[in-house]
Amino acid sequence: MEEARIDEVVGEFVTLKKRGSSLIGNCPFHNEKTPSFNVSVSRGIYKCFGCGKAGNSVTFLMESQQMTYVEALKYLAKKYNIEIVEEYRSEEQKKEEDEKQSLTESILIANAYGQRFFTDYLLHNEKGAVGLSYFKERGFSTQTIEKFQLGFAPESGTEFTETALKAGYQLDILKKAGLTSPKEGSKYDFFRNRVMFPVHNLVGKVIAFGGRIMVKDEKSPKYVNTGESEVYVKSKILYGIYQAKGDIRKQDECLLVEGYTDVISLVQAGIDNVVASSGTALTTDQIRLIKRFTHNVTILYDGDAAGIKAALRGTDMVLEEGLNVRIVILPDQEDPDSYVRRVGATAFTEFIKENKKDLILFKTDLYATEAKSDPVKKADMIRDIVQSISRIPDMIQRSVYIQQCAHSMQMSEQILVAEVNKMRNTRAKEKTKEDVAPHVEIEDLAASAQVHQEQLLASTHNPEPIERDIVRALIEYGTWEVPVDGGEPETATQFIFDTLEGILFESKYKYAYDYIRSEFDAGRIHPETFYTQHSDVEISRLAIDLVTASAQDQLSPGWWEKYEVIVPDKKALYIQDIISSTMRMKQMKNLEMLYQIEERMRTAESAEQMDQLIQHYKLLTEQKKEFAKATGIVVYKRK
Ligand code: UTP
Ligand code: MN
Repeated sequence: MEEARIDEVVGEFVTLKKRGSSLIGNCPFHNEKTPSFNVSVSRGIYKCFGCGKAGNSVTFLMESQQMTYVEALKYLAKKYNIEIVEEYRSEEQKKEEDEKQSLTESILIANAYGQRFFTDYLLHNEKGAVGLSYFKERGFSTQTIEKFQLGFAPESGTEFTETALKAGYQLDILKKAGLTSPKEGSKYDFFRNRVMFPVHNLVGKVIAFGGRIMVKDEKSPKYVNTGESEVYVKSKILYGIYQAKGDIRKQDECLLVEGYTDVISLVQAGIDNVVASSGTALTTDQIRLIKRFTHNVTILYDGDAAGIKAALRGTDMVLEEGLNVRIVILPDQEDPDSYVRRVGATAFTEFIKENKKDLILFKTDLYATEAKSDPVKKADMIRDIVQSISRIPDMIQRSVYIQQCAHSMQMSEQILVAEVNKMRNTRAKEKTKEDVAPHVEIEDLAASAQVHQEQLLASTHNPEPIERDIVRALIEYGTWEVPVDGGEPETATQFIFDTLEGILFESKYKYAYDYIRSEFDAGRIHPETFYTQHSDVEISRLAIDLVTASAQDQLSPGWWEKYEVIVPDKKALYIQDIISSTMRMKQMKNLEMLYQIEERMRTAESAEQMDQLIQHYKLLTEQKKEFAKATGIVVYKRK
């Protein structure tokens, strides 16, 4: 509860004296003669350095006055004469958000109204019947229409705007939302005589519309779309993501198609894990959106060979984000919409399963047939494939691809490895500090593979300290910025989740980590106080413990007020802190895998299997060295 001032609340029960920038008193939770109970007004929390108790206004009342949570809230509400509010926002956030918020909210409210109007018009207005029969002709059921909130925009060209104005919506907002034509003084509807496809954001709010013409007309575009606005940035959203996100996660795969109608037809057929790029080239933001739910993307291309190679051009970016990309080319003349309606869901799914090809292998095969007899062409194509492979962040995956590519292009693996490394080196020099793995002798590794077991086991089976560091970083610096090579800075939260994508927490910090992650997935990143003042006591308690302990880590006793002035220093160190803790986490996972491989090496049944394990072991060891370098831990070479 933000209105509650911790010093006023605690001050009613404990005599506090000012010391430096904080307040100090005798701890109410244990007996003491010299005060060690510290209160930080700016952070809204207390901590006793005698007994370790820490908390916020609410937990103070609960613990010192034996109030229940609700009683504590009511007590504070009465004290400050306020209504009980659920969400906490910091002062800076508040100022910033309040201005933006009202416009954003008004636009979303107008869009919601627009959607209801269009859907209602489609289903219940006789003038909307043309739209309904259009959808029915395309095979869309009422259920599907409702699921995607499809609609119809009146033919008259003024009916929507007039009705909205009568209902009390402001012209200014209708224009900003893109529902009414933006021209000065005009009151014309932006969408006229079109069937409507609302575009939803992750949480299901309508942020834009696409309106499709019903009969082909050379003079008008097939689709008219809402322009970019406060709430709609085309490159950051995928059509259908709201409806599909649960299924994408469940099936651990995202199907990517081109159009609105492809998404809808597939969903109607029971294939739910599908989104559309809405006819434009994929962007990094869209890929990251998918990455929150799965690492597997299957891109469905229409069956006209002409566009295929052009389409493949953008896909290296997807690889770079560490996703597994698979490609399906539909039969000639078909798009996902027409094909699923023709053959049905079972055959469609079967077709995808049978025909989906890993992007790199797809390229390799495509080129292998094409360039068989033309050495110049072949060289170009190999370069293209190597380029793609070099984009893959995961070393093990890269090496698997190199093997496969070498095999099908009948090339030496060494040459490909050298090429890939060269490309990575060049790019690394250009923009990042990405490291190319050092060369390691297999014999060395085979020998060292027999040892270290206990050591590794010990270091890998205690995830708690490192998980704690990461959760603390998320809480303390989640909203702060981390510089990104050659790009806009991103939040520490984004950086951490991107770096640790796919890693599951195991210790008691899992609860907080998963919670912060789910907030992030819903588009929310919060400042520290959000967590220390959180209504879920499990969260606030943990947050307070972490942030006060971190102060303690840095300073010796008597430091609280020093802590208040040390903040600038800490700011200088936080980036290092984040990078080192995420690296240590990855390092730990790497060690776990190494351990597993070592186990399997001891029970390998064939020379072939052993060879594979050694390969894998070699890669993991290379990674291990990289991690060790990054975290400053020396790896000793056994002789
Ligand atoms: P398509 O032409 O494939 O449209 O464009 P579609 O959705 O499959 O529609 P049907 O099946 O022909 O009715 C793919 C996507 O490109 C965007 C839309 O997002 C569309 O869904 N697009 C296309 C436009 O924005 N404007 C256009 O004029 C055409
Ligand atoms: Mn289509």
